[in-house]
Formats: sequence, structure tokens, C-alpha cells
Amino acid sequence: MLIPENFSPLLNLIFYINGGIVALWLFIQFCLYIYKQYIRSPTILRNKFPKEEEVWAAITSIDDEIGKEYTLQLAKQGFNVAVFSDSVSRLTKICDLVAEQDPKTKIKIIKVDWTEDIDETFETVKNELDGLNVQVLVNNATVFPEKTDLFHETHIEDDLKMVQVNIDVVVRMAKLLIPSMITKGGGYIINMSSWIMWNGLPYLSVYAGTKKFLANFSLSLHFEYVKEKIKTSYVLPFCSDFKFPYFLKLGFLSPSPQMYVKKTLGLVGTGYRISPFFSHWLLEKIINQNFGIFNWLHNKWYKRSINKEKKND
Ligand SMILES: NC(=O)c1ccc[n+]([C@@H]2O[C@H](COP(=O)([O-])OP(=O)(O)OC[C@H]3O[C@@H](n4cnc5c(N)ncnc54)[C@H](OP(=O)(O)O)[C@@H]3O)[C@@H](O)[C@H]2O)c1
Repeated sequence: MLIPENFSPLLNLIFYINGGIVALWLFIQFCLYIYKQYIRSPTILRNKFPKEEEVWAAITSIDDEIGKEYTLQLAKQGFNVAVFSDSVSRLTKICDLVAEQDPKTKIKIIKVDWTEDIDETFETVKNELDGLNVQVLVNNATVFPEKTDLFHETHIEDDLKMVQVNIDVVVRMAKLLIPSMITKGGGYIINMSSWIMWNGLPYLSVYAGTKKFLANFSLSLHFEYVKEKIKTSYVLPFCSDFKFPYFLKLGFLSPSPQMYVKKTLGLVGTGYRISPFFSHWLLEKIINQNFGIFNWLHNKWYKRSINKEKKND
């Protein structure tokens, strides 16, 4: 018997009610999730703006996976696209892909290295975007540490570069584009956070911190600008099939970038948090109720990988 016999009936009742409320809350969340995911028709962002107007989407990086998919799928919906990259070959490639898909799509390519002087960089960005009606912003650029390490052993320059790309750029892009979104009657901001924002990630502390920032920043902006019809969301990828080891390459856990972006765009506007895969959503719920077990597991996992790296050096 878990509850002692002399336990106050009142306390007993309170525990039952508390448990009931939590169960009901989880059930409601589950129903809402099923509704958003499988019952309502997916959002088509382009339909939120007048057809006759030229509307631009800005995507802050176009890696070969998620960023490229955002660009192609938004262009396919009918947006013109402004894309940023530090790589000329990537910019040329995305131009070809967009033109191949639909030669009528206008594309603006902007070469920037987000780790360079931020004030100068944003002067360039401001000039390049001047006159374009940017009403969709996807903050995809991110710096992920090259290797996991104890915080005091990482270089401060690398940490600060990560903060600059993962946070400063997002804040400055929002600051630059929100005023014109207000004037134009609304817009959408999509910030790529990560599932690790729930619980942190030992040995990747700065990265994990930046992703938590994105979540709180997005949530706050969302409510701040709801009256201006600017909807900000943060996305919580868990993993996608191109990044993870073989044992995690299970379709239900690690979707392709195409599928990931398609589902994410289909959910934009339904709330400030987007977790487009049921398996990820479920994992988040488990991680959220784990009483530190995941952090303990991370600790073990990363400690082992660091020791292995040190042995190999
Ligand atoms: N893939 C996943 O499983 C996963 C999981 C959790 C969260 N996420 C989040 O989802 C987003 C996309 O993920 P991903 O896996 O596709 O990321 P990724 O491949 O690491 O892409 C990051 C992008 O940022 C760009 N970037 C980095 N430093 C830059 C700089 N100094 N100047 C200009 N561009 C720079 C990279 O361009 P270059 O390569 O040319 O430098 C690349 O295009 C990220 O925000 C990531 O944190 C992804």
C-alpha cells in the first residue's frame, strides 16, 4: 500500500484531484495536438496574404537540408525569397533550384557571414532588404559546436560566436522586419529552436542556452504582437534523418528535411510552439516529466564520447 493508513482523507482527496487535473490537461493537449496535426487543413502561408501583392520570405541560412527546404517550399507556395549564406556556391545552387522549380519566383541572394562585425553586417542586410515586402522570416542559421566539451574548456571566442549567430542575428532580424510587418498588417516569424530547450544539454551548455532563449523570445513576441497579426513561433526539431547515427534513422523519429519543413509550415499560425512530429511531441512530454533522468543520460553519453576523443588524440 503506497498511501499510509493514517493519511488524512483530505490530503488523499487533494492528491486524487491533482492527479485528475494533470491527466485531464495531458488529454486536452493530446486532443489539441491530434486536431492540429491530422484534422484541420494544413496552413498555406501564401494564402494569408493578398494574391496580387508581391510577398517575400527571408531565410537566414540555406544549408543543404532544412534551410534549403524552407526556401523551396515557400517559393513553391508563391513567395519571393531572400536567402542568406556565407557560401557563394550554396547561393548559386539555391538560385538554380528555385529557378528550376518556377522561373517566375524572384530570389535575392545575400552573402553574409553572421559571425563577422554584426553592426556592419546588419547595415548590409538592411540595404539589401530595403524595398522588399518581407512578411515571413525564418531564422534557421545556427552554430553548433564542433565538439562537445566541458564549458570551461571551450574557447570563449567560439562560445560568443555561437551566441552571436543563434541569438543576436535572430533579435536583429526581428527588430529590422517587425516595423514593416506592422505597417503591412501582419507577418510570420519562425525561429528554429530545438527539443533540448526543454531540459538543457550538458557539455553543450551555450548551445542549449541559446535554444532556450529562442523559445522564450518567440513566446514573448508572439503575445506582444498578436494584435498586430504578427505570429511568432519556435520550432522544436528532435532529429532529422541526415544528422543522426544509424540506430536513430527510424522513419517515425527522424523525418526527412522535406517532410519536416512541410509539416512545420502546415502548422504555422496555430500556436507559438511547433512540434510537427507526433514521436517528437511524445518524447518532449516524456523528457519534460523525467525528473532529471535525461540529463543524467546525456552526462554519461557525452562524458564517454569526450573520453573516447581524448584517447584518440
Ligand atoms: N537537424 C536537426 O536534427 C536539428 C535538431 C535540433 C534543432 N535543429 C535546428 O534546426 C535548424 C536547422 O538545422 P540543420 O540541422 O539544418 O542545421 P545546420 O545544417 O547546422 O545549418 C545551420 C545553418 O547555419 C548556417 N551558418 C552557420 N554559421 C554561419 C555563419 N557564420 N554565417 C552564415 N551562415 C551560417 C550554416 O551555413 P554554413 O554551413 O554555410 O556555414 C547552415 O546553413 C538549426 O537552427 C538547428 O539548431 C536541428
